Amino acid sequence: MKGIILAGGAGTRLYPITKVYSKQLTIIYDKPLIYYPLSILMLGGIKEILIISNKETIPLYKKLFSDGSQIGLSITYQVQDAPNGIAESFLVGEEFIGNDSVTLILGDNIFYGKLNFLYNVLDDHKEGANIFAYQVKDPERYGIVEFDEEGNAISIEEKPKNPKSPFAVPGLYVYDNKVIEISKNLKPSARGELEITDVNKVYMNSGKLKVQQIGRGVAWLDTGTPEALLSASNFFGVIDDRQGLKVACIEEIAYKKNFITKAQLQSLVLEMPNSYYKDYMKRVLAE
Ligand code: G1P
Repeated sequence: MKGIILAGGAGTRLYPITKVYSKQLTIIYDKPLIYYPLSILMLGGIKEILIISNKETIPLYKKLFSDGSQIGLSITYQVQDAPNGIAESFLVGEEFIGNDSVTLILGDNIFYGKLNFLYNVLDDHKEGANIFAYQVKDPERYGIVEFDEEGNAISIEEKPKNPKSPFAVPGLYVYDNKVIEISKNLKPSARGELEITDVNKVYMNSGKLKVQQIGRGVAWLDTGTPEALLSASNFFGVIDDRQGLKVACIEEIAYKKNFITKAQLQSLVLEMPNSYYKDYMKRVLAE
């Protein structure tokens, strides 16, 4: 299973935050936003990761993560020339995916809580597509899935004016290798993008789409507005303050998942400048 983080897009709705750097580098509490989706892939056991972004931002991601080997990953980078849609990830990433399956996570999507819903899917995935559904208050802003009485997905619409359900499709998708071919045959939507919703519709129409509802106890946080960014920061600040636990600390995850040894973590921590983050990592080492 390969992993792709799509971290492009102009992020214009968050201007001027996004005037000089991309949305996925915005700070959520104590670290750049992209740490959160990266940590989800890591927790899912995915170690080969492609980050797709525009050519201005890729050098910044390289500065953050380099080739990933320091945290037991292989991270490569590729340019998406223009924000032509989420499904273009599979065209840009065709070579990287090779003959494998792929999990795509959007670089501005934050998940927190028990991730069993994802682990089970990754364990069982053989063919087809697995996506998720999460109840939201403002369904017109997302891809929306409608279920029949047996819980089968019967329609998916991108940002519908009259949503048929409150169930949004989060930016976390697990596909078999056919996703490349499917994406090649897509036509751009009215907003000029290759829509991930259209990919999901192709799988749905051939009976190969599984949609799992994410229940209570998992937070899928929005990062689309300044208020949402502040709320997300506060959310992780509260956890840190209450429990002394950091979320999306990629070095800690790498260590706890055995991607790196204690000695490797020790040398990483030694190189860190004096900071709250370093103090935290020292506590992790001492545990
Ligand atoms: C995209 C997808 C949408 C999905 C959302 C999740 O929306 O098109 O289906 O529900 O991500 O974050 P966009 O980021 O283009 O508004």
